[in-house]
Parts: sequence; C-alpha cells; structure tokens
Amino acid sequence: MPLFPEEFISRLRERNDIVDLFRMYADVKKRGRTYVCCCPFHSEKTPSCTIYPETQSFYCFGCGAGGDALTFVMRMDNLSYPEAVRSLAQRSGMELPQQDPRAQERADMRRRCLEINRETANFYYSFLLHGGDKRGLQYFARRKLTAQTLKLYGLGFSPDDWHVLRDHLRSKGYRDEEMVTAGVCLQSDKGNVYDAFRGRVMFPIVDLRGSVIGFGGRVLDDTKPKYLNTNATPVFDKGRNLFSLNFAKDAASTTMILAEGYMDVISIHQAGFPNVVATLGTAITPDQARLIAQYAREVVIAYDSDGAGQAATQKALNHFSAVGLPARILRMEGAKDPDEFLKRYGPEQFRLLIDHAGDALNFKLDKCREGLDLSTEIGKTELLRRSVNVLAGISNPLEREVYISRTAGALDIRVETLRMQVDRAVQFSQKTAKKAKFHAIEAQSLQRDELNPEASEHPRESRAEEMLLAYLLRHPEEYEMLWSYVSPEDFVTEFHRRVYETICTMLPDYTRFSLSLLAEKFSAAEMGRISGIEARYGDLAIDRDAVEECIGVLKKAKGRPHSGEGMSDEDLLAMLSEKQRQSQ
Ligand code: UTP
Ligand code: MN
Repeated sequence: MPLFPEEFISRLRERNDIVDLFRMYADVKKRGRTYVCCCPFHSEKTPSCTIYPETQSFYCFGCGAGGDALTFVMRMDNLSYPEAVRSLAQRSGMELPQQDPRAQERADMRRRCLEINRETANFYYSFLLHGGDKRGLQYFARRKLTAQTLKLYGLGFSPDDWHVLRDHLRSKGYRDEEMVTAGVCLQSDKGNVYDAFRGRVMFPIVDLRGSVIGFGGRVLDDTKPKYLNTNATPVFDKGRNLFSLNFAKDAASTTMILAEGYMDVISIHQAGFPNVVATLGTAITPDQARLIAQYAREVVIAYDSDGAGQAATQKALNHFSAVGLPARILRMEGAKDPDEFLKRYGPEQFRLLIDHAGDALNFKLDKCREGLDLSTEIGKTELLRRSVNVLAGISNPLEREVYISRTAGALDIRVETLRMQVDRAVQFSQKTAKKAKFHAIEAQSLQRDELNPEASEHPRESRAEEMLLAYLLRHPEEYEMLWSYVSPEDFVTEFHRRVYETICTMLPDYTRFSLSLLAEKFSAAEMGRISGIEARYGDLAIDRDAVEECIGVLKKAKGRPHSGEGMSDEDLLAMLSEKQRQSQ
C-alpha cells in the first residue's frame, strides 16, 4: 500500500510544474521541447541540467541528479519522501489525504523521537547551568566558550548517573521503548533501560528546520572513546546532515568552512565565522559534499594539521571535485586544529588563513615535496618531475602560466626551462586526452558503481536492461507484453531487476504511471539513476526490434533460449516436447 494515494500524487504533480520549481532556484532557458539550466545540485558554469516538461522530470548530465518534482524538493530541501509530499502540498494549497495507518505510525514515531530529543537537550542544558555537578560548566569555561555560545548551540551536560534522564523522560510521559528508539537511552541484555550519555558534555545536532535530531557527547578527560554519537534512529542519519548547517546556511557568505570537530566549529563560529560545518563523527560522504555545494560557492577545508586530518582532506577534495565545488585548503602552522589556532593567534589571523588558504593546486604542489630529500640531486629532480606533472594538469593556459612562474621561483630554476618542460608534458597529455576521453565513456560504465555494482561486470547486459527499462518508462501501457517475455529473474543486475519488478508490479494498480510513484520506493540517488535512463535513451527511438534484441542479450546471459537462435539440440527437443505436452 503506497504512503499516499496515486490520484493525490498525480494531482500534486499537476499543480507543481517541474519547470516552475526549477525557476525558483535557477535561470531556466528553453531549448526546443526541453529546458536547460545550470544544475542547482552542483556548481557549474555551463548548463548541463535538462528539464523535460513532457514527463515532468529532470536529469543533470553533469552530476547525475535526476527525478521528478518530489525528488527535486527532497534533494533541494534535504527532505524525506513524505516531507516532500507535504511541502509540495502546502505550496500548492492542497489538503493531505488520510494516510495509511502504518505511515501514520511512522510519522508519529518520528514526531515522538524529535520531542524526546528536544526534551533531552533542554534537560542537559539546564543540568549544565543549574545542576549540582559543575564539571560541565567548568569544562566549557576552560575551553573559553561564552554563555551566549552555550545558549546558541544549546550545549549541555549529561549527569554522571544511569537513570536520571530516563526518570525525567518517564515523568514527562515518554515510554522506555521510545527513549531507546530516539537513541537517548539504551537497553541492556536483561532489558533494563538506562541513559546512553553519562558524565559527558553534550552537543545537540540540529537539522535545517531547527529540530534536534541527535547528540554528540564528549568525555571531560582523556578516556576513550572521546565522543559518543547517536546511532541511526528514525530521525538521525549521520551521513546526510552536518553539524551547525542550521547556522551556516544563513551566513551571508559564499564560502563554507569545513572543520573536523564539533569543538572546532563552535570555536570558529564564536570567533565570528558562522559559515562553518563539520561532519557527524564520520568521514565526509558524497551526500554531505552535495549538501555543502547547495549552500556555498566554495569550501575551505580546515581539518586538523596532523596526518589523519591531511588524509581526510585528500578524500574530501575528491568528493568536492565530484560535485564541482571549488575547494581550498587551510594550512595551519603552530596549531593542531582551528580551535587551538584561534586561541593562540586570534580571529584576525584566522581570517588571513582563510583568505590565503591555498587552492587544491597549491596543496597538490606542496604534496610533491613529501618524502623527498631536497639536498640531493635525485630529490630535486624527482620534485621537478612531480611538479611538472601537476602543472601540466592545469587546463587553463593563463592559470597554468601563473603557477609556472610561481613554482619556478620556489624551485629556483628559470621560468623558461620549467615552461618548456610543462609544455611538452601538456602536448603529450593532449594526445592521450583524446584517447582518454574515448575510454572515459567506457570507463564510466566500468567504474565501481555503488548503485549498481554488477553493471561493470556485465556492461552488455546492463545496457540491454537499461534499454528495456527506458522502453518501459516510455510505454508503460506495454508492460504486459514485456512481462510475458521477460521476468525479473532474467535481469542480470540486481538494481535494474528491482526497478523492473517494482514498475511492473505497480502498473496494474495505476491508471496513469509516472516517475513520482517510484519516489517512495527509491532513494534520491536511485531516482537520479532511473531518470538518467529515461533521459539518456530518450532520444533513441527504441522500437520492438530493439526490445527483442535486448531480451535476447539477457536470455543468452542466463543461458535461456530465446526465439530459437543459439539453442542447442537438447534445448530444441525439450522445447518441442513441452509444446506437444501443452497442445495435448
Ligand atoms: P577530534 O578528536 O579532533 O575532536 O575529533 P574535537 O571535536 O576537535 O574535540 P577536542 O577539541 O579534541 O575536544 C573530531 C571529530 O571526530 C568525531 C567527532 O565528531 C569529533 O568532533 N569523533 C572523534 C568521534 O565521533 N568519536 C571519537 O571518539 C573521536
Ligand atoms: Mn580536533
């Protein structure tokens, strides 16, 4: 049973034209029967996002974002499916229909979790300020946080006791299971419910709508683990939210600072830079990189200066380059992290650090020196070789020239000499670039594909599947014909099989099929992929013959006979006797 009735979702779609939705966020231009714009989900200068009014869908050929009006709102405002439905309904003045009881139950559960989190945050905050145990307050004082900051972030202290929070929440009418579901309490093997955070300073994690969705809790001393974070709950997904984004998104700056720790974020904010976020106890995910790209034009990575921080910087750079967000790297000397730096040198110096944070290129050029003994000829030559490689990778000639002269100075060699070397490397790489471009198209399908890991092992079958799905999306009325020839088991890749099966099983129940009906069953990333299939094959007129051929590819892969060709004698005999049996 779907969360919302088909008829309602259809009306919702009609009232919320996808082109209009895009117009609120991007400069949309008509191009023939479609519209294009610069993708609102990643930074770009030339438009690669296409909007299809006919199917009310969109697809970005640059970053792979795609879907329908609901997917758009989900990604844009970081909402879940039901939240997106509610948001669009509100926008177009529609009443929400009575929901299916299970959905209602889930929504109630989420609401209870949020209430418990709110109550818990308040409890920790007042325990910090007014409780008998002053260690939390002393701790924050030692770290130089002001009363205003404590209030702004709603920081708190959890009593060093097993049941104080539980008993408090009980007195407010919450049940033990609910506290466990919200993650503020845990349940022992024996079934006892006890406080999850004890004797820790508490950092509430607040989402874009101002709800407390989880907590990080730090010990007061050096015991391990230093931090405990809320595990996944119905309202908390640590890979999809960012600490302090609720403040950072409104900061009038186009630069977002990405720090490693909660304490760094709070220090940086207190020092006058509210445009700062951190991940929630894990390495940055592609979703989080995309989230930052939605609110900023560039990111300055301000991770710790130790080895771990630098390795994490490298990883973050990859994620940002994937979503097209320019990144610069803050280089701190004389401090291990931004918090320490601010304490030692003050906000003015930190502002300078940010303004002069090197771009990714300087970071790469500096990295060339790693592990080399520059007092030897070998070391120097190797440094030159590595630097030439990095410089040759700069595609803009003007920019390349700037870096060449700067590097020549740093390496103490003549600019002409360096330029000659770099030019040679550029020429060589241009020759290989053509080849590479060609290979890239192939490689794209060979790359480790997280949504559809089997696609790379079975490129031919995966393409055939995509074409079948494209045909099905174009001609939903023909699903019965397809279904009679191809069963889900014929699909080689699990993801495509799931898409096929989902569409075919929902079609009998729906008079009018649309992509939106899938949004409930697939994640935003998966929806992007599905719209991509529709978009990429949209211009190819896939006809029955092509469908026939695709079916052949799949049946062959599974060793199943299809329309006679390629069948062994045994297969033929078996099929004939089957036919005879049927006709008897
Ligand atoms: P840090 O150890 O750098 O902590 O970890 P911090 O926030 O800067 O705190 P101080 O300044 O040492 O007091 C950076 C981030 O990594 C996660 C937390 O999100 C932390 O803010 N982390 C660290 C954990 O989730 N668990 C841990 O045990 C340690
Ligand atoms: Mn730190």
